[in-house]
Amino acid sequence: MPDRLKVAIVGASGYGGSELLRLLLYHPHVEVVAMTSRSKAGKAIGSVHPNLGHHADRLFSDDPMDRVAANCDAVFFALPHGEAMSRVRPFADKDRLILDLSADFRLRDAKAWEAAYGKPHAAPDLIPSFVYGQTECFRDQIKKARRVACPGCFPTGAILALAPLAREGLLKGRVILSAATGSSGSGAEPSDKTHHPFRAEDFRAYRVLNHQHVGEIVQALTDLGARELDLLFIPHSAPMVRGISTTAVASLPLPMKSEDLAAMYRLQYQGESFVRVLADPPRAGVVAGTNFADVSVAAKGKDAVLLSAVDNLVKGAAGQAVQDLNLMMGWPETTGLEYPGTWP
Ligand SMILES: NC(=O)c1ccc[n+]([C@@H]2O[C@H](COP(=O)([O-])OP(=O)(O)OC[C@H]3O[C@@H](n4cnc5c(N)ncnc54)[C@H](OP(=O)(O)O)[C@@H]3O)[C@@H](O)[C@H]2O)c1
Repeated sequence: MPDRLKVAIVGASGYGGSELLRLLLYHPHVEVVAMTSRSKAGKAIGSVHPNLGHHADRLFSDDPMDRVAANCDAVFFALPHGEAMSRVRPFADKDRLILDLSADFRLRDAKAWEAAYGKPHAAPDLIPSFVYGQTECFRDQIKKARRVACPGCFPTGAILALAPLAREGLLKGRVILSAATGSSGSGAEPSDKTHHPFRAEDFRAYRVLNHQHVGEIVQALTDLGARELDLLFIPHSAPMVRGISTTAVASLPLPMKSEDLAAMYRLQYQGESFVRVLADPPRAGVVAGTNFADVSVAAKGKDAVLLSAVDNLVKGAAGQAVQDLNLMMGWPETTGLEYPGTWP
C-alpha cells in the first residue's frame, strides 16, 4: 500500500485505541503500521478488541518510541493524561504528524495544566506547536497544523452546544453546564466508578465544580468570542456505556424566541457534515458509534438552554481525531467516518 499514510497508535489496547483501530483499519488512505501496548505486547488484536478479531495478523507491540517514530508518518496517542508529553519528543524531532487524544497539549498555559492535572508539564516548549482539535470551531488552524491536541469528550459536547452563542457575541458571564457520561469515558481499566454493578442502575454527580476539563472549555469558547465566562460544570455518571449528554444554561443579553435561536444554530452549522441541529432534544443512543453531534436549543426570555449529544469515543475522541487527520492531509473531512448509528 505505497500511497497510504503510515499511522502508529500508541496506547492501542484502551478504549480510545480501540475506536482508532476500528476507524483507521478501514480508512482508505491509511495503513496502521504499529499498535502499542505494554501489557498486551505480542497478543493479537482480538484478545483485547473482539470486534476486530478477524484481523488476526495484527499484534500489539511494546516498541520503544524512537523505533515507532522512525517507521510512521503520523502518530495517534491514546494514553492516560500525563503520558504522551513524555513520549512525544521522537515524533516531534522527526516532524511526524501528531494527534494526541489526551489532555497533555490542550491547555496553552503549562501552569494551568499543572494546576488541573497535579504535576508539572514535561514538554512545555512543545505546547505552542499544538492546535486545539475541535474540528467545527478551529478548522482553518487544523488544516495547517502538524500537531493537534484533540478535545476531551465533555468539552466536545459543551463547545458544540455553546459555540454558536460564543461566535455571535452572546455568551458572557455565568453558564451552568451539566453533562452525563457513559462508563466507557473512564477507560478500559475497571474501577469502582466503572464497574457494572456500581453503575448500571445508578446516576450520580461527581467532581462537582471541580472537573479538570473546565479550563479547556473556557479557553476554547473564549477563543470563539465568549467573554468573562464563569462556567459551573456538574458532570454526571450515567448508566450507559457510550455517550455524553450535555445541558447548558446561559443568560442571553436580549430576550429570544426558541425558533430564532434555532435558526441561528442552523445557520451556523449549515454545511457541517457531522453536526445536526434537531427540533427535539438530542439522544445519546442515536449518535452512539457515530461521529455525529446532535444539538438542539430552546429559549424563554433571556434564558437559553443548549443541548448536545455525542459518542464520547467517536466524536468525543477517535472520530474527531480522524476528522482532524483528514483535514491535515487535505482529504475530504468525512473520509472513513460516513456512517449512521444503529437503531433501535
Ligand atoms: N474514554 C473516552 O471516552 C475518552 C474520550 C476523550 C478523550 N479520552 C482520552 O484519551 C486517552 C485514552 O483514554 P482511554 O479511555 O482509551 O484509556 P484506556 O482505555 O485506559 O487506555 C489507555 C491506554 O494507554 C496504555 N497505558 C495505560 N497506562 C499507561 C502508562 N502509564 N504509560 C503508557 N501507557 C499506558 C494502556 O495500555 P497498556 O497499559 O497495556 O500499556 C492503554 O492502551 C486519555 O487521555 C483520555 O482522557 C478518552
